[in-house]
Formats: sequence, structure tokens, C-alpha cells
Amino acid sequence: MSTDKIMIEVCMGSSCFSRGNRRNLELIQEYLRKEHINDLVELRGRLCSGSCKKGPNIEINGQLYSGVTPSLLQQILCSLPKREG
Ligand code: FES
Repeated sequence: MSTDKIMIEVCMGSSCFSRGNRRNLELIQEYLRKEHINDLVELRGRLCSGSCKKGPNIEINGQLYSGVTPSLLQQILCSLPKREG
């Protein structure tokens, strides 16, 4: 059984943060709480990676998502593994 966590990295650079990651971060935290998957996910902030124009940027398990609106974020979160049972 794999114990690898889902890694979610939210760009906390000032551009991404003000373009929407401030809210996105709250939405992610709410989602993890609601689904009781806090322990399956490692949520981290990270510094600007230079892709500000495409932001807000969020990376999940190495896959970069750009222009992440709350509705796109919702779709991404729903595609994460769910807790079974
Ligand atoms: S602030 Fe997010 S990539 Fe620059």
C-alpha cells in the first residue's frame, strides 16, 4: 500500500496570492476538512516560480494548474482520491 501523500503546492507569491490564491488556499483547507482527508494531503505554500502571468498557479503532484479559478479548483479537488468507506 502506498503511503505517498498528495502534494498540493499553492503559489504564495504576491501576484498569485492577490489573483486568487488567497481564496483558493481557504477553499482547499475547507475541502480537506469537509472530506476528512487532511492526513492524505500535504498542503504547502511555495514561492513565486516566475509564471505569474498565468497565475494563480497551483501544483498538485507535480502537475501545474494555471489560472485557477474557484470553479476550476473545485473540479480539481473533486478529482482527488476520496477517503474510502
Ligand atoms: S507569484 Fe505565483 S508564479 Fe509568480
